[in-house]
Amino acid sequence: MSAQPRQIRLGAFLQATGHHVAAWLHPDAQADAGLNLAHYKALAQEAERGKFDLVFVADSPGGYGNPHDIEVFSRDGKTAHFEPVTLWSALSQVTRNIGFVATSTTTYEDPYTTARKFASLDWISGGRAAWNVVTTGADVSPNFSVPAHLEHSRRYERAEEYIDVVKGLWDSYEDDAFVRDRERGVFLDPEKLHLLNHKGDHFQVRGPLNIGRPPQGYPVIVQAGASDAGRELAARTAEVIFTANLTLEDAQEFYADLKSRLPKFGRRPEQLLVMPGIFPVLGGTEAEARANYEALQALVHPVGCLEHPQAPLRRRRPFRPVAGRQGAAAPQ
Ligand SMILES: Cc1cc2nc3c(=O)[nH]c(=O)nc-3n(C[C@H](O)[C@H](O)[C@H](O)COP(=O)(O)O)c2cc1C
Repeated sequence: MSAQPRQIRLGAFLQATGHHVAAWLHPDAQADAGLNLAHYKALAQEAERGKFDLVFVADSPGGYGNPHDIEVFSRDGKTAHFEPVTLWSALSQVTRNIGFVATSTTTYEDPYTTARKFASLDWISGGRAAWNVVTTGADVSPNFSVPAHLEHSRRYERAEEYIDVVKGLWDSYEDDAFVRDRERGVFLDPEKLHLLNHKGDHFQVRGPLNIGRPPQGYPVIVQAGASDAGRELAARTAEVIFTANLTLEDAQEFYADLKSRLPKFGRRPEQLLVMPGIFPVLGGTEAEARANYEALQALVHPVGCLEHPQAPLRRRRPFRPVAGRQGAAAPQ
């Protein structure tokens, strides 16, 4: 038996004009990147040429910022961007191999809708779809005719059931269910249709889905939770987990902890890939890279940064006022 050599997996986390809070202000930035298909097309093709395994876009079913705080909202370069499954469906047509990770929430959608969307993306892309399962920490409930934002533990309970329902729906038909036999006039072999008939705490879903089983069977499940509940969900259901640990010790603890959770779900540690994020600032030399970073930092507006939606990251990495900016904010 020849063991496959281990290979590093690379993903490109594309975020409109970039991850830096002030990226869109940079004179070389594509300020309309979030709504610019040609921009994403160039990036996806470049990532594919660079042998990346995947491209990924984050998402929230509501504005990232707080629209009531117009001073902050109006300075946020990430306010307007494409819906991920739609974006990746288009870009799957101009790429051949790269995987597409689209973020979709378990808190503000129905599993039936999500199962359809990702099955479609998987068909359209020829088996390159992946779903970044998020529970949506931000309260976007005012957009969804629901009484309130579910609390953390309820969101994760719902997510656990949600993923099982989605997978069950993906199994609505066996791979060869659609016989399309013109002579007999039979499109679908009824023996190969399986109704889900799910009745759970959060969902009642009969099925079947109105699309054939995805080419991958199940599109790849990605997770990015960091809490105990998030780690459990990843250990049980995900093939990839994204992390944003800021120290080596934290990253090592996270890795070891996650891997140790898999056996109780009958899984081997290598069945869950941990993909830590980095925020690279490039330059021909280290000095040039540092200068590029400082140039970005100098563009940070104190108000826009204070209320920046990536609050968990912000809390762990104190804001450093940049010399020369009027009214720089106090460290948080
Ligand atoms: C790389 C990365 C990408 C993420 N992308 C999203 C996203 O697109 N949408 C979202 O609502 N949350 C996103 N999150 C947040 C996580 O889903 C999760 O809510 C957060 O890490 C907190 O974990 P917890 O909810 O388990 O406490 C992301 C986290 C990381 C590390």
